[in-house]
This record gives sequence, structure tokens and C-alpha cells, in this order.
Amino acid sequence: MEKEIKKWWEGNSKGYQKESKIPIDIHYGPGAPNERVLKLLGNLKGKKILEIGCGGAQCGIAMAKKGAKVIGIDISEEQLKFAKKLSEKNKVNIKFYQGNIESLKMIKSNSQDIVFTAWALLYVGNLDKCFKEVFRVLKKRGIFVLSMPHPFYDTISERALKVKRSYFDNGKFRDRDFVAYHHTFSDIINIIINSKLNIEKVIEPDSRKKHKGDPWYGLWGFTKKKMYYFPSTIIIKARKK
Ligand SMILES: C[S@@+](CC[C@H](N)C(=O)[O-])C[C@H]1O[C@@H](n2cnc3c(N)ncnc32)[C@H](O)[C@@H]1O
Repeated sequence: MEKEIKKWWEGNSKGYQKESKIPIDIHYGPGAPNERVLKLLGNLKGKKILEIGCGGAQCGIAMAKKGAKVIGIDISEEQLKFAKKLSEKNKVNIKFYQGNIESLKMIKSNSQDIVFTAWALLYVGNLDKCFKEVFRVLKKRGIFVLSMPHPFYDTISERALKVKRSYFDNGKFRDRDFVAYHHTFSDIINIIINSKLNIEKVIEPDSRKKHKGDPWYGLWGFTKKKMYYFPSTIIIKARKK
């Protein structure tokens, strides 16, 4: 399963980065304000941060520029190649690992102040395994901040805004060679609770207008019309007690 996802990213990384032109910034995805507005992470100076599903590392680089010690993990060689070049260009030192984030075996237990992830969890089938690993690597009082597609967003077609599928259609889906997972809202919340992390905040950003630093607004499935009516992203902040 992750083989198909990896293959898609290996083949589409260049085009994705070229089209989206993601700025160096701590973003939360299509239709969402950035960290400058949401202020979920606090002061990053000296903090140990693990970014899972880091892609081109635009977030990780912005965190490193604020004085954080960042590790990035991604499944795709091409995405990591891009991330390494970009971090060199920005003169920051980030340690990168290639791997499936269902396991964080390369990261020591109780070692991270923050685990962060933006729009990568839609590619993870076993969120349960992943979030238990997040719990393991976080220090006591450490935070997990995630953003992912709003579970409702993909039930509606992009242009005609017609219902495409049942909200309850959970699990793997395929659109030609693109493969990812649908998770319902309660699934995501309950998996966080089961992993013993305490939820502190849930945000459904208002996507009716373009937020500063959102490179996806109007691109691909993120049409202005659809984002006006339906929420595109959810953001959750949780803490290891
Ligand atoms: C939409 S991109 C988001 C990248 C980055 N977080 C950002 O916000 O720009 C999704 C990323 O998740 C990575 N990915 C997908 N499945 C993964 C997995 N099981 N383990 C690690 N990374 C994965 C992809 O290679 C891709 O770089």
C-alpha cells in the first residue's frame, strides 16, 4: 500500500513543488491560516521538533530558522532530495530520514518537544500505530500538532459541488494512480485519545477567503467555490501529559 503512495510521490514530487511554490513558512495547509496567526507551537528557540511527512521541509526550515533543532521524516526520496537542497539553500541544518511514519524507530523515546505534521496523515493507513509512536517519542508535556484534510471535504466534487461519496466510506481510496485514506472525524479524535494524548484544541479554519501564505488556494481540488462552502483542513493540538 505505501509502495503505491511512495511511487506517486516519486513521480509527482517535481511537478507538485513546481506548481505549488510553497513558501518557507509554518503552514497548516489549504484554506488555513499559518502559525503566525494560529500560534499553536509557542517559542521554538532550542526546541527539538520532529516533522513527520515533511515533504519539501518548508515548515521544518522555517522552524529551524527560529532556532529549533529539527528532524524531518518522509517516505519519498524525491521529496527529501528537494528538502535537502532547500535546507542547504536556506543555510539551516536539518536531519532527514527516509521512512514510513507508521514507525518512528529512528527516534529515541521521550526525546522531542514537538511533533508536527501538515497534510501527510491522509497517506497513513494505520494512524493508530503512528500516533502511538508520536506519544512514545514526545517528552512529557510535549505537544503534537497535526493538520490534515477535513474529513468532510472529499465527499463533495470540486466544481459541480455534487456529493461524490458517503462520509462514512472510510479507508483506502483511489483516483487513477493516486492513493490515500479517508478517516472520519471521530476516528481521528478517538485514535488520538487511545494513544493517550490529551486534545487541547481543534480548529476548522474558515476557508472562505485566502489566508496569507496559502499557496494551494485555487489550485487542484482547492477551488475557491468549494472552499467557500466546505472546510478543507482540520488542525488538532494534543499534549502528552
Ligand atoms: C502533501 S505532502 C505534505 C508535505 C509537507 N508536510 C508540507 O506541508 O508541505 C505529503 C507528504 O507525505 C509524504 N508521505 C506520504 N506517506 C507517507 C508515509 N507513510 N510516511 C512518511 N511520509 C509519507 C509524501 O511523500 C509527501 O512528501
